[in-house]
Amino acid sequence: MEIMTWKTSGAEETQKVGMELGAHLLPGTVVGLIGALGSGKTCLAQGICRGLGVEEYVTSPSFVLIHEYEGRLPVYHFDLYRLREAEELFDLGYEEYFYGDGVCLVEWAERAASLWPEDAVEVHLNDLGAEMREIVLSDRTGKLNKAFQKLP
Ligand SMILES: Nc1ncnc2c1ncn2[C@@H]1O[C@H](COP(=O)(O)OP(=O)(O)O)[C@@H](O)[C@H]1O
Ligand SMILES: [Mg+2]
Repeated sequence: MEIMTWKTSGAEETQKVGMELGAHLLPGTVVGLIGALGSGKTCLAQGICRGLGVEEYVTSPSFVLIHEYEGRLPVYHFDLYRLREAEELFDLGYEEYFYGDGVCLVEWAERAASLWPEDAVEVHLNDLGAEMREIVLSDRTGKLNKAFQKLP
């Protein structure tokens, strides 16, 4: 179900959207960030982390699959771009992250579609050209109220 859509022009605006989302996220939420290379997934994740109170500088975890941060909740930032098969996530102990009390931000979440919790939320990013991006927040089961305190 599509919940909300934003159009941003420039990385800063995308980070602002992320900050709003991060400020409202509830414990135990898994957020899939889905979009082409350069669409702004890491940029949005940086904003979400900021909104969650993470002070550290957030960088792409593309070579190590996961970075952990401490905000008002634990934050686990995944990048599955280099994942060859979903099973690699078992070696990482992904269940503790996905079903724990932190927030998971998962770039290239579609690469692990078979392991996706059913109450996860998705954010699709579409590159509209130049500095324009469309950001679409959706869920599959209408459980978004479990993910956010209230929608920004
Ligand atoms: N509206 C926008 N939102 C997000 N990023 C943008 C936007 N306009 C331009 N950019 C640029 O696009 C790139 C997005 O990179 P990044 O967030 O790493 O993408 P991804 O993680 O999806 O590969 C950055 O260089 C950023 O400056
Ligand atoms: Mg990225």
